Amino acid sequence: MIGRMAANRIVPLVDHERLGGPYWLLTFRHREIAREAQAGQFVMIKAGTSAEPPLRRPFSIMLTDAGAETFTLFIKDVGSGSGALCALEPGEPVQCLGPLGQAFTPPPAGTEALLVAGGYGVAPFRLFAEEVKHTGGRYRLFYGGRTSDDLPLRERLETAGLPLVLATEDGSVGHRGRVTVPLAEWLDRRDAPARLYACGPEPMLHAVARLAEERDLVAEVSLDPWMGCGIGTCLGCVVRVQDANEARGRYRCACTEGPVFDAARVQWPDEKASRARRKAAGAEA
Ligand SMILES: Cc1cc2nc3c(=O)[nH]c(=O)nc-3n(C[C@H](O)[C@H](O)[C@H](O)COP(=O)(O)OP(=O)(O)OC[C@H]3O[C@@H](n4cnc5c(N)ncnc54)[C@H](O)[C@@H]3O)c2cc1C
Ligand code: FES
Repeated sequence: MIGRMAANRIVPLVDHERLGGPYWLLTFRHREIAREAQAGQFVMIKAGTSAEPPLRRPFSIMLTDAGAETFTLFIKDVGSGSGALCALEPGEPVQCLGPLGQAFTPPPAGTEALLVAGGYGVAPFRLFAEEVKHTGGRYRLFYGGRTSDDLPLRERLETAGLPLVLATEDGSVGHRGRVTVPLAEWLDRRDAPARLYACGPEPMLHAVARLAEERDLVAEVSLDPWMGCGIGTCLGCVVRVQDANEARGRYRCACTEGPVFDAARVQWPDEKASRARRKAAGAEA
């Protein structure tokens, strides 16, 4: 089912900026997304006005500007769909449906929101930080990648005043190692109740879910399965999730019931098997 406010439009790219390597910021005009989108929601989008190729691609909404009626995506160019978007010139059209999916839940009053991002998973947290700030809440962003090249937004996030903890696996910026290491240290010395929010590669999401379980904290994770339609019809995006009142998990569409889920409800796939699948698909070196 399409969300109440989702609108399907042909809209122009109004601005683009290459951030280095495969990373881009793309801004589009789209009134409904600019006015209604909440952090964690996404769009299904493709370059051009032709029916071919048929499938759009999902991207998290990174920022909105209701006054200018625009929204911005943070895109890693990894293939044909993302590449065609990054090759657009201002004024050129896209087909764009959104906002779609379930957003992150704001933290309860007095609870610090700890946002955990891996790679392009940082996209929804720019908007989420604004939402939390708007309600007077506290937040901190843990932003990790393999190398400093995978953190192309770090200076802008610093300039925007986001409290940041950086981590890279090669130690080129911030803590050396996985982003969940400084997160665990922070959790162990925090002075306020905390809620975790994570978006990034599945092993990172699973690690955040484990940290939350060990410390009896609530965590929300934004899952990233393949999506064909974004509106609950193709069933390409199903993930196994178990509600508290269910004896075992059920497959649910991540596009309509997610992509944001309570981490404690997600039935995580076997990590070895999913690493082998990602390797076979060329998504992991
Ligand atoms: C809800 C949601 C939000 C997303 N938000 C963002 C975002 O903000 N920025 C961003 O850059 N990307 C985001 N993605 C991922 C993005 O949708 C994919 O990178 C894109 O669909 C790839 O399409 P393509 O045609 O460019 O590449 P393809 O030619 O389809 O694939 C190229 C390579 O990327 C791999 N790949 C494709 N899709 C995914 C995926 N979902 N996860 C991991 N590897 C994948 C393929 O296995 C292949 O190796 C999001 C995905 C979802 C489901
Ligand atoms: S992407 Fe088609 S059902 Fe979710």
